[in-house]
Amino acid sequence: MEILKYCKALADETRARLVNVLLRFELNVGEIVQLMEMGQSRISRHLKILADSGLVECRRDGLWAFYRASDSGPGRNFLDGVAPVMEGEAVFGQDLARAAKVIRERMAQTRQFFDSIADDWDRLNKEVLGSMDLRGEIVSRVSGCDVAADLGCGTGELLALMAQKSRTVIGVDSSPKMLELAEDRFHGDARVSLRIGELSFLPLRDWEADCVVVSLVLHHLARPLEALVEAGRVLKTGGRLVVAEFDKHDNEVMRTEYGDRQLGIANREMRGWLEKAGFEVREQTEYKVNMGLAVILYEAVRL
Ligand SMILES: C[S@@+](CC[C@H](N)C(=O)[O-])C[C@H]1O[C@@H](n2cnc3c(N)ncnc32)[C@H](O)[C@@H]1O
Repeated sequence: MEILKYCKALADETRARLVNVLLRFELNVGEIVQLMEMGQSRISRHLKILADSGLVECRRDGLWAFYRASDSGPGRNFLDGVAPVMEGEAVFGQDLARAAKVIRERMAQTRQFFDSIADDWDRLNKEVLGSMDLRGEIVSRVSGCDVAADLGCGTGELLALMAQKSRTVIGVDSSPKMLELAEDRFHGDARVSLRIGELSFLPLRDWEADCVVVSLVLHHLARPLEALVEAGRVLKTGGRLVVAEFDKHDNEVMRTEYGDRQLGIANREMRGWLEKAGFEVREQTEYKVNMGLAVILYEAVRL
């Protein structure tokens, strides 16, 4: 009986705690071990039982594995039924607070990583993109905007091109060092607003922009969908979104040398997220670049 399979999988305190956390966050094994304060073999055994039951999904990403509660299907229906019962227990609340802390620490690591490579970023970028003019391709798709925002703007090279084609531009980045270099580029130009912030909590008002660009940033995030929902919040209805992202790949160098959290994003997953975040994808173009990678440009409209 299907119901017994789910009940058995959940009939253990550790597994109930894991499910509670994985309903909110997608985490790798190291992060789960850190927040649960248990040995890796014990955690792996429990994760296997949950994954075998269909309550939890394992997403392979090169040599790494990420876990989250199943998105759909009977396992998910079961979890949606039991989730409200978990809400009152103190231990579940404490686990969620610890998981949020693990994610905050990870964001701080990303920030430190980009601070440390900021001076070298434009060269590193060229190493990956080779002769592909990604910025030119993006700008040709977002010209004529009133307010154009570049989320994860780095040193502002793309923003400078966007500023030539739009009335005003906003650059957001979480790395203070990257933004410092961007500030040097613009010398206080009044049409350019540089703002420090996270993609999951943008320092922009609702409907502030009519064009938004997210270029080679989503693979650094723990929850890319959350960033796309935020992009939707700050975009006017009918506003344009351009996302540039690596297609799924297996080049681990991108993780070790370039600080990527995940090895690209599968086309189906990206299109699903865009739809969930309230966008309609109008065009998609793929470009082969260096290191066996491909960049996909998604052009979407805020519905
Ligand atoms: C790979 S670089 C891409 C820079 C630029 N968009 C480009 O295409 O050249 C990623 C940028 O996103 C920023 N970033 C990473 N995670 C972020 C986050 N959670 N919130 C805001 N910016 C973030 C980094 O500091 C870095 O400047």
